[in-house]
Amino acid sequence: MSDDGPARLTPEQLRSHQWFGTEGALRTWSHNARMRQLGYEDEEYRGRPVVAVVNTWSDINPCHVHLRERAEAVKRGVWQAGGFPLEFPVATLSETYQKPTPMLYRNLLAMETEELLRSYPVDAAVLLGGCDKSTPALLMGATSADVPALFVPAGPMLPGHWRGATLGSGTDMWKYWDEHRAGNLTDCELRELQGGLARSPGHCMTMGTASTMTAAAEALGMTLPGACAVPAVDSAHERMAAASGRRAVELAWTALRPSRILTREAFHDAVTTVLCLGGSTNAVIHLIAMAGRAGVALTLDDFDRIARTVPVLANVRPGGRTYLMEDFHFAGGLPALLSRITDLLHLERPTVNGTLGGQLDGARVHDDDVVRPRGNPVAAEGGVAVLRGNLCPDGAVIKHIAASPHLLRHTGPAVVFDDYRTMQRTIDDPGLNITADSVLVLRGAGPRGGPGMPEYGMLPIPEHLLKQGVRDMVRISDARMSGTSYGTCVLHVAPESHVGGPLALVRTGDRITLDVAARSLRLDVDDEELARRRAGWSAPPERYGRGYGALYDAQVTQADTGCDFAFLARRGAVPDPYAG
Ligand code: FES
Repeated sequence: MSDDGPARLTPEQLRSHQWFGTEGALRTWSHNARMRQLGYEDEEYRGRPVVAVVNTWSDINPCHVHLRERAEAVKRGVWQAGGFPLEFPVATLSETYQKPTPMLYRNLLAMETEELLRSYPVDAAVLLGGCDKSTPALLMGATSADVPALFVPAGPMLPGHWRGATLGSGTDMWKYWDEHRAGNLTDCELRELQGGLARSPGHCMTMGTASTMTAAAEALGMTLPGACAVPAVDSAHERMAAASGRRAVELAWTALRPSRILTREAFHDAVTTVLCLGGSTNAVIHLIAMAGRAGVALTLDDFDRIARTVPVLANVRPGGRTYLMEDFHFAGGLPALLSRITDLLHLERPTVNGTLGGQLDGARVHDDDVVRPRGNPVAAEGGVAVLRGNLCPDGAVIKHIAASPHLLRHTGPAVVFDDYRTMQRTIDDPGLNITADSVLVLRGAGPRGGPGMPEYGMLPIPEHLLKQGVRDMVRISDARMSGTSYGTCVLHVAPESHVGGPLALVRTGDRITLDVAARSLRLDVDDEELARRRAGWSAPPERYGRGYGALYDAQVTQADTGCDFAFLARRGAVPDPYAG
């Protein structure tokens, strides 16, 4: 940028000019003939920035079911600003319905996004998503394509309600299911509760993975200010979508690419934001992968180091105690929260809307209990800790603000489950002699073992213990955990058991020591015995003989490096489609 503002492209410098603008070439002539077929005259698109509206709408995705209408609002904004919108439907990643887990497909959506932005006449993109993995996937694709892009978060659904209680989707689903298992809730009551848990379109309205990742997108500088917390069905959401369309046209003229926005400082600020929100542990994996696409080396140690300097200020469930995303929006949203930690941020760095500091102009907190002041935080330190030790040489994470304080330093005997199905079948078996002091261990649930690292990390408490009033235990796995979950759950153990990580060597009865303050997770078994067990370990048989699963299995990296595909994460030249 100069003092006169950012340099502007001429119509001839737009990327789409190669498709539509060059006179006298057969291919341009044929492209324009097909635009007639689509019903457009020259003046409607030639010389205007083409804005791709990348839409993850689907009938099967309740979190995105309103995005068809929002795409129309984005297009309205693009037309208003003199651009030419084209909608591109892409894969939908529905956290609820896609099995074994949408995480298996995050990199597929990233690849689809990257390639369509590269291969079509696109000058800028507006990315519509929000349900958990769709946010990192869309942004990873746009980052690799390096086409000017802006993200429109799907927005949180309305708060849940049942019999006078406010419900958080996910969080209260787990809670009331346990109460049902403990015999405190009838089948009839459980069915009634179903109708109050998720009341409108939009993503989960707790500070789960969806809200965490859309906030991270805003903190990175990839959305309009305040966009992440606008409820999905609020009329402000439609206005934000239209404004995003208008802004995308400006991004195209100024060629403001993700590579100028997604700097090391931007990722530092996104990590700071996620920790200040008490956000989902999934953000650790996604932000490391997203940073990798931008050429920024973000590590687990960055999270742990920053966490020690950042208080949790968002009192939003499950990390906070009380509120939901609509409350956060009314309290001022993300700009209000960031206005409380400006000394920890890089205010001069660029965003799609100017600078981060500019995005916070006029931001004010309207409710000090929802967005706490620094002197009265929800927790003094950021919500995620990174553990090391002989059980997780490449790291593991724990969301300690969602754990029971009395379990943060704990030694107990392991009860080991080799896979999720076995665990489901046997967890309530009294013959396993599980007590409240036991450490439940689940393996075979990592990036390759899961496959896709399903959100199995909040292992269920055995029924006999629930009936005794036990609601939390130490649980350890190479799985992830839903951002709406809670409990003393050690997650993302790396390397995973499927590739021979030490988790594969644990036996029922081994003692395990968790010490969060010391950032330590140790298997109390000596090295000689572990070496003997390792000599007897053999890798599980290959699961996928063909198809996307085989590609995934061959390419996915471990949790500590973001679970991207090695061939997508590496740096390397990709020819422009018109240069080839
Ligand atoms: Fe889509 Fe929770 S199910 S965000």
